[in-house]
Amino acid sequence: MIRARIIGSGICLPANIVTNDELAKKVDTSDAWIRERTGIHQRYIALPGEKTSDLAVGAAREALIDAGIDAGELDMIICATTTPDETFPATATIVQSRLGMAHGAAFDVQAVCSGFIYGLSVADSLIRTGAARTILLIGAETMSRLLDWNDRTTCVLFGDGAGAVVLQAHEGRGDNADQGVLNTRLFSDGRLHDMLYTTGGVSSTQTAGVLKMQGKEVFKHAVTNIAAAITASAEAAHVALDQIDWFVPHQANQRILDGTARRLGIDPAKVVSTVALHGNTSAASVPLALVTAVRDGRIKRGDLVLLEAMGGGFTWGAALVRW
Ligand code: UT7
Repeated sequence: MIRARIIGSGICLPANIVTNDELAKKVDTSDAWIRERTGIHQRYIALPGEKTSDLAVGAAREALIDAGIDAGELDMIICATTTPDETFPATATIVQSRLGMAHGAAFDVQAVCSGFIYGLSVADSLIRTGAARTILLIGAETMSRLLDWNDRTTCVLFGDGAGAVVLQAHEGRGDNADQGVLNTRLFSDGRLHDMLYTTGGVSSTQTAGVLKMQGKEVFKHAVTNIAAAITASAEAAHVALDQIDWFVPHQANQRILDGTARRLGIDPAKVVSTVALHGNTSAASVPLALVTAVRDGRIKRGDLVLLEAMGGGFTWGAALVRW
């Protein structure tokens, strides 16, 4: 059975760090409120002119070096983003050109904060069906461009960044001992649009709009939906939750991470959290957390890792990966 194995990974963050105290000089908030309600200490914000594709290319280059391949060996590039450089073409094609790749295919996936999980599911399917052998998957965002900087209920939560992985076909036995993606589970419910959306778009206002969120409602759904996605992925692989070595969640709020772990009886020490450092970076948050835990030695070859996310739409999902 063909499995999509992760053979390299990389990240890219803007140089500009914005602390809670700096934000408190611009909006009516405080370091204490942000830390206590979200766990966020700081976020990275792209400088003027710094685009999603710049961060995506930075993460992609690192992932290619880590994988020990060059762009010529890629068959496809998938970029999960909700903040593309331009309405079209896809940011993935801009990355393709900047990596000097003139073959294969490149396209974007839009599932907001669940984008990386959706992209992983697409990449896994393309590899397992033989349509592609090697795929670069990127989650990249400049969420700072979508924020209303006068709205303290949202502007303190988000940040910019990118993470990338290289997936490659490899022959497995078809059981849980295989290295690579073991399964993915995707969900959405478009009826919940009004809880998290932007006030604009090409066909409605001809502007990008700004992010609006009913935070409390999103919070409640996040814990329920993420717990359900984790359970669905683990059950599909006939794996008990205590057999999973690491949980790598979307980084929206430390209280969501804690609430989900509590609900499912997961040991909090197995939950990777980078929300303090990065804030909510939407589609970049899962790969940023994943790569952080790989680099600091927590996630090791052979570990069973469960990735999960939820975002606007609502969309949510999970992926079980043998690292
Ligand atoms: O990535 C997609 C998924 N997104 C999420 O998962 C986000 C989910 N939601 C959340 O993380 C939380 O709901 C928030 C962090 C957004 C808000 O936390 P909360 O504990 O639900 O606070 P709240 O909205 O109930 O607000 C409590 C109080 C309010 O004041 P009153 O009405 O009690 O006087 C707010 O006006 O906190 C006030 N508040 C703030 N105060 C200082 C809201 N934002 C701020 C702020 N600084 N930045």
